[in-house]
Amino acid sequence: MADNLSFLLDKSVAHLDKGLEMQRQGNLPEARYNLLKAAEFLFKAAEKTSPPLKEKRVERAQALLAQAAALEKPGKSAAASGPKTAGKAAETATADASEWLVREKPDVRLADVAGLGEAKEQILIKMVYPFTHPELAKKYGIKKGGGLLLYGPPGTGKTMIAKAVAGEIDAAFYTVKPSEVMSKWVGEAEQNVARLFDSARKQPRAVIFLDEVEALAPRRSQNISTVMARLVPQILSELEGFDSKADKPNTLLFIGATNEPWSLDEAILRPGRLDEKLYIPLPDEKARKQILQSNLKGKPLSPELNLDEVARMTEGYSGADLRRLCEKASDAPFLESIQTGQERPIEMRDILTVLHALKPSVSQKNLARFERFAAQGG
Ligand SMILES: Nc1ncnc2c1ncn2[C@@H]1O[C@H](COP(=O)(O)OP(=O)(O)OP(=O)(O)O)[C@@H](O)[C@H]1O
Ligand SMILES: [Mg+2]
Repeated sequence: MADNLSFLLDKSVAHLDKGLEMQRQGNLPEARYNLLKAAEFLFKAAEKTSPPLKEKRVERAQALLAQAAALEKPGKSAAASGPKTAGKAAETATADASEWLVREKPDVRLADVAGLGEAKEQILIKMVYPFTHPELAKKYGIKKGGGLLLYGPPGTGKTMIAKAVAGEIDAAFYTVKPSEVMSKWVGEAEQNVARLFDSARKQPRAVIFLDEVEALAPRRSQNISTVMARLVPQILSELEGFDSKADKPNTLLFIGATNEPWSLDEAILRPGRLDEKLYIPLPDEKARKQILQSNLKGKPLSPELNLDEVARMTEGYSGADLRRLCEKASDAPFLESIQTGQERPIEMRDILTVLHALKPSVSQKNLARFERFAAQGG
């Protein structure tokens, strides 16, 4: 069943790639045929999908139909010439595209990120202090701007750090996530990447977060779709345009994140791109305690709750795992409080019960691979 679904999705993507390629070459009948096939496979895939993704897939398939319809009468948009439904779908596609430009002003700070002392120091020097101490930075010839790659297992705070950098220097925050570029903005990926960078350049300061960077710059280029094959050089050249002269009116920072540093194309790590690599490991005992504390803050806690002990017991758990642990541990006392009408604080046994059922999300094998990679200099 799942295989069948992935077959349908693969077919849809393959036709889409072909269709876009044909469109670029000006072969409109072939382009139209392939976009229609892409829509057809996506509709079939949607039938095998459960909500809410189902609706999204139907929407995207409709957008593909609209795109195909627009090719019938060159020069006119689907909204103007296509049937009513196609016009509506085209609107949906445009509305989706504007999501690119949704930028955040994160309020998280580096102090909220537990542990990771060395990595945070590097980040402060490269990305925060040049803004908070501009005079000193000038004296020491420290440049503003530039790029950084964060690598490590899932749930260790990479996304959080990127947001915290934006929070520290009051910068707009943009995310580029290849899986979304590919699925949401089919056929418009290039324009949207350009739009995102244009929008970022208009901000006094912006952080562009390249998530899943291994998909953007994979080492084995034969695995790349045609859309990606065009997007990668585009993004790389946008990165180059980011030179870090101190007197530029606006400053852009780049932060990439990956769970697969070993499958990254070295090109992305060249000077001027993501030229510094930082390992973001699992939290140590002290950091685990801090994460537990911040996730339990403000909740009713029993005085016998010993977070030092919980921190000791949770070696191998990621920050995301610990957050989950704290969330789940609240369930039983919450329910009990409702049932008895008396507030029952979170006790050690609540944590232990959940912990028992919650396995670390990062496997030993995966962890060992990261440690090896980092030990070899990253
Ligand atoms: N070092 C940390 N300090 C505080 N909280 C953390 C830390 N690491 C993870 N967390 C918690 O886990 C959540 C998920 O972390 P985040 O999304 O930053 O992980 P990630 O490294 O980006 O993971 P992925 O590689 O899967 O994208 C955070 O929102 C935070 O609540
Ligand atoms: Mg992340």
